[in-house]
Formats: sequence, structure tokens, C-alpha cells
Amino acid sequence: MKRAAVFTFVVCWAVSALSLAEVGINPIPAATVSDPHEFKNSSKTTTTPTTKPTTTPTTKPTTTPTTKPTTTPTTKPTTKPTTTPTTKPTTTPTTKPTTKPTTKPTTTPTTTTPTTTPAPPKPTPPPTNLTVGNYNLTDKSGMFLRAQMAVLIRLATPKANGTFIVQPKMTKATGSCSAKYATLNLTFTEGFIYFRFNKSASEVFVDELSFSLYYPFAKDDKTTYTASNKSLRLFPANIGHSYSCTHESIDLGSGLVLEVNQDRMQAYNLTKSSDFGLPDPCAVDKSDYRVAIAVGVTLLILIIIVLVAYLLGRRRKTGGYQPL
Ligand SMILES: *[C@@H]1O[C@H](CO)[C@@H](O)[C@H](O)[C@H]1NC(C)=O
Ligand SMILES: *[C@@H]1O[C@H](CO)[C@@H](O)[C@H](O)[C@H]1NC(C)=O
Ligand SMILES: *[C@@H]1O[C@H](CO)[C@@H](O)[C@H](O)[C@H]1NC(C)=O
Ligand SMILES: *[C@@H]1O[C@H](CO)[C@@H](O)[C@H](O)[C@H]1NC(C)=O
Ligand SMILES: *[C@@H]1O[C@H](CO)[C@@H](O)[C@H](O)[C@H]1NC(C)=O
Ligand SMILES: *[C@@H]1O[C@H](CO)[C@@H](O)[C@H](O)[C@H]1NC(C)=O
Ligand SMILES: *[C@@H]1O[C@H](CO)[C@@H](O)[C@H](O)[C@H]1NC(C)=O
Ligand SMILES: *[C@@H]1O[C@H](CO)[C@@H](O)[C@H](O)[C@H]1NC(C)=O
Repeated sequence: MKRAAVFTFVVCWAVSALSLAEVGINPIPAATVSDPHEFKNSSKTTTTPTTKPTTTPTTKPTTTPTTKPTTTPTTKPTTKPTTTPTTKPTTTPTTKPTTKPTTKPTTTPTTTTPTTTPAPPKPTPPPTNLTVGNYNLTDKSGMFLRAQMAVLIRLATPKANGTFIVQPKMTKATGSCSAKYATLNLTFTEGFIYFRFNKSASEVFVDELSFSLYYPFAKDDKTTYTASNKSLRLFPANIGHSYSCTHESIDLGSGLVLEVNQDRMQAYNLTKSSDFGLPDPCAVDKSDYRVAIAVGVTLLILIIIVLVAYLLGRRRKTGGYQPL
């Protein structure tokens, strides 16, 4: 009886520890991005269309006949009066329902909206679109460089604070490849981010990184932010392997930081189907793996011990050695 109780207790403990270990394997990347200046408008466009159909038909027919006969035909070109009345009525009722914070999971019955398209119950964080870009570079002999990553530039100076998120859709990747170097230049309207991959005998790594960004982080900010370092040793991977990392911040001085998230990149010796080679995880991810493996092995040993003890106890019982 006692043994069975101990057994169940240990099993319960093991299960809870396993679930803890699972949490450890998938750490949520601490990418809390603040204040994305770019594309602020994109989040506003949801759930507004209820009020529109009622207002438009009433205002339209009244204005059209009045304006036409009054115009003197000599000077003014024929201007269509369609644009003015449509924009006005949409602005007023939008702000009310959207302001409630979405984070609280407790459902208070929302009775405010009578005609609802089903409201999306997404627990989405603030409207920051950190999007993973997919950048491929090819030359005559095929793909020589491939990078998957979400990139942003963070600025923290006494004059301005801010974040610039690189939008893959508006970014072009260019570059070249020689025996010793491969380059990747991500260009967008506001500037560029440049990586140079150095190929040594056994591995490939980024030894030069620079960027230039012309973006008003503060009011009347006309600074072009530039950063460059030519003696780096970033993103190392064996030749034929790819580099992978969940989250990485590269401080380039002067309060300028390049953040690379969900990174998988490789220059040289991609597979025949232009795919990544085996991943070489960064140090942080590696230690995460190690912790997970250590926890798993410990649990396995514990379970085996418990099982053996249980079986031994049973055998002793059937063998006739009844405890008093
Ligand atoms: C954002 O919306 C404002 C009005 O709401 C508009 O004036 C501005 O041009 C928009 N910006 C972008 C980038 O769409
Ligand atoms: C930002 O993300 C939202 C949803 O996550 C999406 O609807 C929207 O199109 C995105 N905006 C841009 C500019 O990618
Ligand atoms: C890059 O190449 C990979 C593998 O061929 C492909 O799956 C992906 O769609 C490509 N991405 C772009 C943006 O061309
Ligand atoms: C930027 O942030 C830092 C610390 O968060 C603060 O000391 C500094 O005053 C901020 N600068 C501006 C311009 O807001
Ligand atoms: C990257 O491309 C941009 C735009 O073509 C160019 O202005 C910039 O000089 C390039 N950067 C490097 C380091 O070649
Ligand atoms: C490229 O890397 C190799 C090996 O670390 C180094 O010897 C060489 O100086 C690097 N090239 C440059 C231009 O830094
Ligand atoms: C470049 O980065 C290296 C390594 O982080 C650092 O030691 C060096 O001071 C940096 N150089 C410049 C010019 O910032
Ligand atoms: C990488 O590719 C080059 C030729 O493209 C080849 O000579 C070399 O053996 C390859 N290295 C590995 C580790 O596959």
C-alpha cells in the first residue's frame, strides 16, 4: 500500500515536471517591441463597416442637382461633386468600441454592438508587425545565400527613442558572391542593412555589418542613422550548415541596436534543392536544448527507479515473503 502511494505521488510529480520542461523547450522570445512608428494605421482598419450603408444614400442625391446649374461654364472645369459627402460621416462613431484592452480573458457580455460581424477573439499583442522575411540570392551557379529573419533597428539616444521594423514586402535583397565573401544588402525606402559573410576554411560568419536609416524617430528629426562594424564575428556556421537563432541583439554603438529574430541563414553550400543545411544553433538556443535534455534524462532515470522499486516489491510479495 505504502509503495503504491509513493509510486502515484512520484508519477504525479514527474508529469508536472515534464510539463514544466515543455515550457522550457519553447521559451517565448522576449520581443516586446515598443512604439512601432511605421504602419501605425494598419491595425485601425478592423470592424468599422456597420455605420456606412445608412448614411451614404441620404446625403448623395441632395448635393448633385444643386451644384451643377450654379457653375459658370467659362472658367471652371467640370468638377464632380462626388468626393465631399462620403468621407465625413465615417469618422465619428469609430473610436468607441475599439478602446477596450484585449488582454483580459474574462468575458463580460458585450451588448454594445447590435449588428455584429463575429468579433475575432484573438489575444494578439499590440499592433506590431514583426514579420519574418525570406531573402534569397542566386547567381549563375544557383542559390548562394538564403536568410529567413525578422529584423528591426532599435534606437535609444537622449534625443530620440524608437523602433524601425523592416517590412519584408517593401524590402529588396541584393548581393554578390565570390570565393571568400558573400554579401547581402537589404534595401528599403528608408535605407539599407548590409551583411558580409566571410568564408574561412571551416566556417562562414558575418564579419561586417552596417546600416543606414533615414527615419524621423522624433519630431523634426532629420538625422540619418548609420552604424558600421567591420571586425565582427556573428552568425557562425560550419560550411554547408545554416545558422539559427531565436533572438539576438547586436549593439553597434551610439545607441543603435540591430535585432534579429527567428533567424535562419546560410551562405555557401546550400543543398541541391536550395535548402538550408543542418542548423547550428546559437549559444543561447544551445543552452536551452541542454537544459531540456538534462531535465528529460533526470525524469527518465527517476521513472526507471520507481518502476524497478515497484516491480521488486511485487516480486517479493508473490515470492511469499509477506511483510508483517
Ligand atoms: C494614417 O492615417 C492618417 C489619417 O488617419 C492619414 O493622414 C495618413 O496618411 C495615414 N498614414 C499612412 C502611412 O497610411
Ligand atoms: C499586420 O498584421 C495584421 C494582423 O496580424 C495584418 O492584418 C496586417 O495586414 C499586417 N500589416 C502589414 C502592413 O503587414
Ligand atoms: C527562397 O527559396 C526557398 C527555397 O527554394 C523558397 O521556398 C522560397 O519561397 C524563396 N523565397 C523567396 C522570397 O523567393
Ligand atoms: C529614451 O529612453 C530612455 C530610457 O528609457 C530615457 O532616459 C530617454 O530620456 C528617452 N529619450 C527620449 C527622447 O524620450
Ligand atoms: C546597399 O544598397 C544601397 C541601395 O542600393 C546602397 O545605397 C548602399 O550603398 C549599399 N550598401 C553597401 C554597403 O553596399
Ligand atoms: C575573413 O576571415 C578570416 C578567418 O577568420 C580572416 O583571416 C580574414 O582576415 C577575414 N577577412 C577580413 C577582410 O576580415
Ligand atoms: C566592433 O565589434 C567588436 C565586437 O563586438 C568590438 O570589439 C569593436 O569595438 C567594434 N568596433 C567598432 C568600431 O565599433
Ligand atoms: C562547398 O561547395 C564547394 C563548391 O561549391 C565544394 O568545393 C566544397 O567541397 C563544399 N563544401 C562542403 C563542406 O560541402
